[in-house]
Amino acid sequence: MKVTSAEFLKSAFKESDWPRDSLPEISFLGRSNVGKSSLINSLLGVRGLARTSSTPGRTQSLNFYTINGQFRFVDLPGYGYARAPKALKAEWGKAAEDYLSQREQLALSIHIVDSRHRPSKQDLELNAWLRHHRKPNLIVATKSDKLSRNELRKNIDSIALDFDNDEVIIYSATKRKGRDQLWSAIEKSLKS
Ligand code: GTP
Ligand code: MG
Repeated sequence: MKVTSAEFLKSAFKESDWPRDSLPEISFLGRSNVGKSSLINSLLGVRGLARTSSTPGRTQSLNFYTINGQFRFVDLPGYGYARAPKALKAEWGKAAEDYLSQREQLALSIHIVDSRHRPSKQDLELNAWLRHHRKPNLIVATKSDKLSRNELRKNIDSIALDFDNDEVIIYSATKRKGRDQLWSAIEKSLKS
């Protein structure tokens, strides 16, 4: 994919704020601080477009980015940030769940996990939910640059087993590893 333009469109907290046209959308989800925004920036080759931070829970609303005027990336709030106030936690969950369950033009959900860790209970629940509702989804294990080759192979095998899915894409936002593979999957989902 040649990215000729990538623009932040808007932040949305509730359904009435979602963009009203029908451009296809690719959503990015995963635990707080897992590297969703960094992955979006590295895919697009635009540093700082999606806000990243070493403080977990940075992305609290749905952020819409329009790519090449043709499709959109949607950065969803991360889950599992233990220190978030209860009310906020519920709100984040609801914003994401409303979006995932109701958005008609959602073409693909990219579920991001950390290569270094086994999936959390919430990761597994989210995966089961996506499958149950027949939402096209893909597992991407990021931060792979933080592991040796052996550790990475071992961890990816466990992650694949935990999700019962052997198509885990190995990614690194800092090294831009896995970028071509992920773009092909995105392009395929936009065509179908
Ligand atoms: P929230 O929006 O808070 O849920 O976080 P997020 O999932 O968007 O994570 P973000 O992209 O902000 O990244 C969190 C931290 O991980 C930052 O300090 C990033 O620099 C770091 N990070 C993200 N991806 C990678 C990667 O592939 N490799 C390495 N080494 N660090 C990464
Ligand atoms: Mg983020």
